Amino acid sequence: MRYNNLFKPVTIGKINLKNRIAFSSVGIGSYNSDGTITDENISFVRARTKEIGLIITTAAASSYRYGKLKFIGAYDDVFISGLSEFARAGRCNGAKVFLQLFVMGGPNILADDLFLDVVPWVPSTDLSIYKNWTGRNKPKELKKNNIKELIDDYVQSAGRAKEAGFDGVEIKANEDYLLAAFLTPYFNKRTDEYGGSLDNMLRFPVEIIRGIKKLCGSDYPIGFKYNVYYDSPEGDGVNLDMGIKIGELIANEGIAYLHITPYGRNNVPYSLMEPTIMPNQYQPGNNVIPFAEHLKASVRNTLIMVASGILKPDEADRFIGEGKADLVAIARALIADEYWAQNAKDNKRFRPCTKCYVCLHEATKGDILKCSVNPDVLAKRKSGPDTVNTAKKVIVVGGGPGGIMSALTASMRGHAVTLYEKNEYIGGGLVPGSMPEIKYEFLDLLHYYREELRESKVKVITGFKVNQRFIKKINPDVLIIAIGAEPLNINIPGRDHDNQIDVFTAIHNADSYKNKKIIIVG
Ligand SMILES: Cc1cc2nc3c(=O)[nH]c(=O)nc-3n(C[C@H](O)[C@H](O)[C@H](O)COP(=O)(O)O)c2cc1C
Repeated sequence: MRYNNLFKPVTIGKINLKNRIAFSSVGIGSYNSDGTITDENISFVRARTKEIGLIITTAAASSYRYGKLKFIGAYDDVFISGLSEFARAGRCNGAKVFLQLFVMGGPNILADDLFLDVVPWVPSTDLSIYKNWTGRNKPKELKKNNIKELIDDYVQSAGRAKEAGFDGVEIKANEDYLLAAFLTPYFNKRTDEYGGSLDNMLRFPVEIIRGIKKLCGSDYPIGFKYNVYYDSPEGDGVNLDMGIKIGELIANEGIAYLHITPYGRNNVPYSLMEPTIMPNQYQPGNNVIPFAEHLKASVRNTLIMVASGILKPDEADRFIGEGKADLVAIARALIADEYWAQNAKDNKRFRPCTKCYVCLHEATKGDILKCSVNPDVLAKRKSGPDTVNTAKKVIVVGGGPGGIMSALTASMRGHAVTLYEKNEYIGGGLVPGSMPEIKYEFLDLLHYYREELRESKVKVITGFKVNQRFIKKINPDVLIIAIGAEPLNINIPGRDHDNQIDVFTAIHNADSYKNKKIIIVG
């Protein structure tokens, strides 16, 4: 398939991007305690530069005044040399690179243990959600002089980004963080010039933008990431009209692009109705597109970048072709496969993200990034797999995802690999797991694994149960046991009756239970 739109160049501000794909910010949980950049951040980005038009870095802390952050820093000149290396790495394949500027604060820190040490600065404190505050520090209302200090911090950080060689900056004003809270009526009850009317609510980010332009030049590109829609359980969120108005007013400040995300805080975990920046397996992807269409109809003087669950190049291409967006921002698909964009361009298979949320869970726990389909997610190698000089005889027992990935990895490194699976088919728990229609991402993954195996040098033997005698006879150099997990067998009375089955049996034989009376436990 040819992608006629995705790989078309585009100009943002005065810079030319080779295509419409932006690698959206991904914090990988790697930071030095002094805020300097780590090699892991640099190599993570360097590995994701192929066929990317724009790289937006992980959030860089732009102020130190309100607590210590577990992020890379931009708030001091000492960071400039590390940031230069970061920018150079991002540019190594011709992408342009923007540093994302960020200040903690806002109600988001309510949720995260990670931020317990941060002073929870907010626009207004007199809100019901702060009544049951459990954090270490009580929320504090920003005084006007604090806002001025923060504006200056953002501006100086942008100056450092420019000095470090970044092609532009992106201001993070989405989710529940401080700037987003100023733009959300429920959180912003201020009666001074930073609250009340929309112009007032926007004053904080607008003064940041104007300050950056003054310091870095009016041509220095600034992107603005914000909630085009905010579903607040208490009401007073951001509705479509307001989301569009925010876009119009910010665009009038002469920014390079609006990067829009939807957000919801409905306390309904995994609700199908929740507008979310990161849709999971149960939520419809691309839920920002209807908002983008409206925004594009109203905002003509800047470009619109959309995020939220774009996993497939054909859908990304379509959104751009149909004029619903100018750029797509991709995060998780590039976590799962660093060559997602390159593979799309070359019409090659890519390792699909399954929206399983492992990456997000690790990030919010403060751990280092992990991905359930990309074991190499933070590998430091420059390109291609490591290879060995002396091949080993490797036996893998078990043809589920773990066994398949181990077999593929060992084989790619040059070992002689045989994989044994007791079932007649490869895929293990992914096979029943991908049967429900809603789990199509698992089905994509299953196809990916099967195709990769088919094209690899791995010898696959199905319908064969390996035992000790067999292993002794074969005498491999390495034995990898990947026999998977068993469903939990709850020991309740009657468990051994024929009418009690585990989930795998149920899914494999779904038709035979049609119209039966069924109780599901768990
Ligand atoms: C592990 C992880 C870390 C993220 N870190 C940031 C960040 O530092 N700044 C930011 O604006 N968004 C961050 N995001 C959100 C992404 O940039 C993106 O907006 C979101 O994941 C939706 O895109 P996707 O569906 O392609 O993943 C992060 C997402 C993930 C999964």
